[in-house]
Amino acid sequence: MTMAHHPPCRLAVLISGSGTNLQVIIDRIEAGELNAEIVCVLSNQPDAFGLERATRHGIPALVHENSAFPDRRSYDAATVEILKSHNVELVILAGFMRILTEVMVNAFPRAIMNIHPALLPAFPGLHSQQQALDYGVRFTGCTVHFVDYGTDTGPIILQSVVPVEQNDTEESLSDRIRTAEHQIFVRAIQLYVDRKISVMGRKVLISS
Ligand code: GRF
Repeated sequence: MTMAHHPPCRLAVLISGSGTNLQVIIDRIEAGELNAEIVCVLSNQPDAFGLERATRHGIPALVHENSAFPDRRSYDAATVEILKSHNVELVILAGFMRILTEVMVNAFPRAIMNIHPALLPAFPGLHSQQQALDYGVRFTGCTVHFVDYGTDTGPIILQSVVPVEQNDTEESLSDRIRTAEHQIFVRAIQLYVDRKISVMGRKVLISS
């Protein structure tokens, strides 16, 4: 059980797709295991299945299409306005397939978490699972990190190692990694909510 010393942490979850990570966060909150509240889900894809997951659980879900804004900075400015109006404390990028500008990063310093399907700094960017297969690594995994100005470069909070099997396809490897993602993402959010995380330069310290 979580320590209930603080009011529930106000989360926003940004998605672009299926939202299985979102679902795990919803489930843990509903089970009373995570002292948080998802105050809004935002997608840049109107057909993202994660929107339906949010709606089913009574969570406000919004779509900001990329094409509705002239550039990424104005996209981010509109996002910041919405998130601030909901008093969001922590922004969760759960499969949000868009690079943030400094407009978002500056508005939520050390308060944006991303999940990446590789052991950073290996295989940043897109198609990390295929990159791992092409490289021939024996192990890959996933990383939860704070978002800074770079792409997949921010301070690392948690990582999980996943073996690569000889007959893996991009899909089978992605499935195995996603199972690990579901575990470390909620653990990282839990640490944040319990105020056990501090950041020193690019190192994340976790108190017990
Ligand atoms: C995950 O593999 C995550 O690492 C990547 O996008 C995927 C999102 O999956 N950034 P889901 O939408 O949470 O199912």
